[in-house]
Amino acid sequence: MRQHYASTTIANSIRQVIHALRSDDDALAENTAVLAERRRRDEARIARALGRELKGLDVLIIGPGPYLVEPRFFGRHNDVTAIDLDVIPRGFAPGPYFQMLRQNGLGRFVKTVGRKVLGVDRRNARAWQRELGVERHAEPRLIQGDILKGPPRENAYDVVACWSVFQHIAEPALAIRHMKAALRPGGVIYIAIHLYTSNTGHHDMRAFTGGADKLPPWPHLRESTKGEVNSSAWINKWRLRDWRAMLNEHAPGFEEYRQIYDEPAERRLLTPEIRAELAGFDEEELLTTDVYFLWKKPVS
Ligand SMILES: C[S@@+](CC[C@H](N)C(=O)[O-])C[C@H]1O[C@@H](n2cnc3c(N)ncnc32)[C@H](O)[C@@H]1O
Repeated sequence: MRQHYASTTIANSIRQVIHALRSDDDALAENTAVLAERRRRDEARIARALGRELKGLDVLIIGPGPYLVEPRFFGRHNDVTAIDLDVIPRGFAPGPYFQMLRQNGLGRFVKTVGRKVLGVDRRNARAWQRELGVERHAEPRLIQGDILKGPPRENAYDVVACWSVFQHIAEPALAIRHMKAALRPGGVIYIAIHLYTSNTGHHDMRAFTGGADKLPPWPHLRESTKGEVNSSAWINKWRLRDWRAMLNEHAPGFEEYRQIYDEPAERRLLTPEIRAELAGFDEEELLTTDVYFLWKKPVS
């Protein structure tokens, strides 16, 4: 049976909403600026591979999540379609919320309604408007669907991209095949993956909501600490070598970029005892948090 991104628990949902409410405007603006800088860097990589600016193009984003950050970012200058497994309600019409409750369970429902009612989504959208210098966001064409079932359209997009989705996909090779089918010749696939073997590859919400100190280093990879991890989503546990092998087969000639965020701090966590426990992993896969793969579809 195919497995995919899981519904979240109520405890995780409440934790995320509280964390978002606690961050003040300056912290939110700072965080948004950091994320926007990363997306500008990604945009530049894609533009270089395409050999042209990302303007007036057809872009497909997979798994944008509820904040729609990437579709809005690329929607500044392009026509964006976004496909997500989850229902992403916009506004307050009740239908999509009930559909979400049925499909994703109470945890996701509580998080979404909490974010809307408490204004988290609105604040976030405004922070991005300020950062991008736009009065209104360009909203994408939103499709609820599964990329594993096929692309929305074939041979129709100049760019097909996703951030932090592939580690939640049970059949990455099938997703790549569908992304390739969606692309026009000369188009570009761009995939950002939060690496399972990184210190935060476990997706325990505490690591992202101010509770990192409650988690031991690389807890999910160590026999002695595995039991302390509470992942907030299903993860396929692929390692760097698995991604490379799959892409060598399905996207030969791909480019790879690795992101280490704070190498000295990460190395301090790797004490000799912990390093010994992690002997089955190399330093590259332990220290890299995000890995990005880019592939250009041949023209003929
Ligand atoms: C961790 S979130 C990432 C959200 C956003 N891209 C970001 O980086 O913040 C993963 C998203 O991928 C979506 N997703 C997972 N598997 C998918 C699939 N097979 N097809 C479409 N979307 C999927 C999930 O519903 C979720 O919204």
